[in-house]
Amino acid sequence: MGKKLKIAVIGAGGIATGAHMPGYAKMDNVEIVAICDIKIEKAKKLADAYGVKQVFENYEDVLDIPGLDAVDICTPNYLHSVIAVAALRKGLHVFCEKPDAISVEEVEKMKAAADESGKILMVMRNNRYMPISYFMKKYIENGKMGEIYAARCGWQRRRGVPGKGGWFTTKEQSGGGPLIDLGVHMIDLTMWLMGNPKPVSVTGCTYMKFADTDTSDSVNSAFGEKNAEGTFDVEDLAMGFIRFENGACMQIEFSWASNVEREKRFFELRGTKAGAKWSDVDEKLKIFEEEFGSTVDYLPNIDNTKGIQMHEGNLRHFVDVLLNGTDPMFVPQQGVNMVKILEAIYKSAETGREVIL
Ligand SMILES: NC(=O)c1ccc[n+]([C@@H]2O[C@H](COP(=O)([O-])OP(=O)(O)OC[C@H]3O[C@@H](n4cnc5c(N)ncnc54)[C@H](O)[C@@H]3O)[C@@H](O)[C@H]2O)c1
Repeated sequence: MGKKLKIAVIGAGGIATGAHMPGYAKMDNVEIVAICDIKIEKAKKLADAYGVKQVFENYEDVLDIPGLDAVDICTPNYLHSVIAVAALRKGLHVFCEKPDAISVEEVEKMKAAADESGKILMVMRNNRYMPISYFMKKYIENGKMGEIYAARCGWQRRRGVPGKGGWFTTKEQSGGGPLIDLGVHMIDLTMWLMGNPKPVSVTGCTYMKFADTDTSDSVNSAFGEKNAEGTFDVEDLAMGFIRFENGACMQIEFSWASNVEREKRFFELRGTKAGAKWSDVDEKLKIFEEEFGSTVDYLPNIDNTKGIQMHEGNLRHFVDVLLNGTDPMFVPQQGVNMVKILEAIYKSAETGREVIL
């Protein structure tokens, strides 16, 4: 058997427990050598569940584990850049949860540390690993959509604030509300399908109207720990518009709470040869073409709920890049472009003006 990759997981909360550890447990080329959490009992509980031998309270100690290849950062957002930079400077590869970082300054530090160390820095982009995403990418790469010149995407929640009063709703620790939390997922998927065009300007509005509601109808809002005495100083709805260097544009909408029918995650693409739409309401990918003088709907029979789980798919890709030298599907510049968009939408919402990137 070939080399086993030694990885330490930092942050033993919802995503580490619900997705990362179950994913690694299925990979026989990975050994999780340590789990770290400032709440040591959480690290111990997760380590016990997976037979991991070492637990740590302080991430700096993790970086000195002999023979460690990589860290996987599953902490609140404001620690992503701090821990990633420290790990890269120690010569470790880094996998990090989204969003990449809470500011452009911090994401640029991460990219610089990766460039200087020559190590891999990959940030979670799990939606690229859905079965429909794979199909759509192949369809586009085969030229079947022609030029993609416009898109829409979003993740609307009716009621679904994660960890209310905890770090998710505290701007200093999260960087913002649904725009930074959910926006990364669908803006990334849509931009990736469009061939990662360079963003050049954005405009946006943000609102905070539901800080007082405790109603939840979203399973996803179970992430993060609530704090009844805590802070809520982030938006609950963001809408915006992104222009790209190649002339393409994208409309976006992200909410944790808004008066819409139900939770929905979606993208729509408009190409010169075909259009496409997908949402998790029915999980169906629909493609719209024109042939022999008629419009034609093309409905791929893909069960988007089956196959490899998307987080596991992304982690497997990271492992594959490290062990087999596969070309990374994510490069740090994509993270810089993403955080530039997000930060500029917040700035535009504050100033009421378009922001040039
Ligand atoms: N890709 C996805 O689908 C997805 C889904 C949920 C969350 N996330 C991301 O995962 C990250 C974690 O989110 P979560 O929902 O698991 O949050 P969480 O609050 O459940 O877990 C975070 C954990 O980090 C620990 N922590 C805090 N400071 C630490 C430090 N200095 N050192 C070590 N551990 C520390 C906390 O004690 C907590 O256990 C966030 O960045 C979030 O955006 C991604």
